[in-house]
Amino acid sequence: MKKVLVLTGAGISAESGLKTFRDSDGLWENYNVYDVATPQAWTKNPALVQEFYNKRRQQCATAKPNNGHLALADLEKDFEVQIITQNVDDLHEKAGSSNILHLHGELTKARSSKDEKLIYDVRDKEIKMGDLCEKGSQLRPHIVWFGEMVPNIEIAQEMMHEADYLFIIGTSLNVYPAAGLVHFVPAHCQTFLIDPNDCPAGNISNLTILKEGAGTGVPKAIKIIREKV
Ligand code: APR
Repeated sequence: MKKVLVLTGAGISAESGLKTFRDSDGLWENYNVYDVATPQAWTKNPALVQEFYNKRRQQCATAKPNNGHLALADLEKDFEVQIITQNVDDLHEKAGSSNILHLHGELTKARSSKDEKLIYDVRDKEIKMGDLCEKGSQLRPHIVWFGEMVPNIEIAQEMMHEADYLFIIGTSLNVYPAAGLVHFVPAHCQTFLIDPNDCPAGNISNLTILKEGAGTGVPKAIKIIREKV
């Protein structure tokens, strides 16, 4: 089976009602990202950070996957599909995709603030100040904040080497190292960029741009590659 690598960003979840990051004057759901999504914010005001992610977790619990997520899950009938997502929501999981690598963490999990290997499922529950890991340290959201290492980046780079097709969906390609992944595909790989707005495609070769939302753009890209099988 041919292999489809899929790099998703906030835009794929926009039609599910979750806001993207860079379309509202630098604010994310009315918060300045540097007040809620950095290690410095956690040191300065952990309660605010918890509150912010508790709200995001709640919002995510009621969100439903849209046609874009569902089409990618269905694609597994004919292709080997590996999703690499920058999103912290679980809409790819809810849609039924099997192979999902989260680069920036997951809202449905908490982790120890002292030992990053201690990770716990919290699903849609709040994390409160005073909730501790088994070693007695405060639990924090299992999120990769600005300025933190991206532990899954190397495995993602390896995955890219195997792509026959790459779908880039709903990401402004602004945030590194995730944005750099698009350059790890082999020369024969055909890339589709699906985004309703102009997006810096840089020097990606063998590129097809579908300037539309994920709900219609993803099925179109899929139709093109299915016709080649
Ligand atoms: N379908 C597809 N794409 C869309 C849609 C849609 N319906 N609506 C908007 N978009 C596009 C926007 O045009 C934009 O290019 O989605 C992209 C969203 O870009 P960002 O908000 O920058 O999100 P993303 O690229 O995922 O951000 C990367 O930055 O804030 C951090 O860690 C966070 O993972 C995030 C990372």
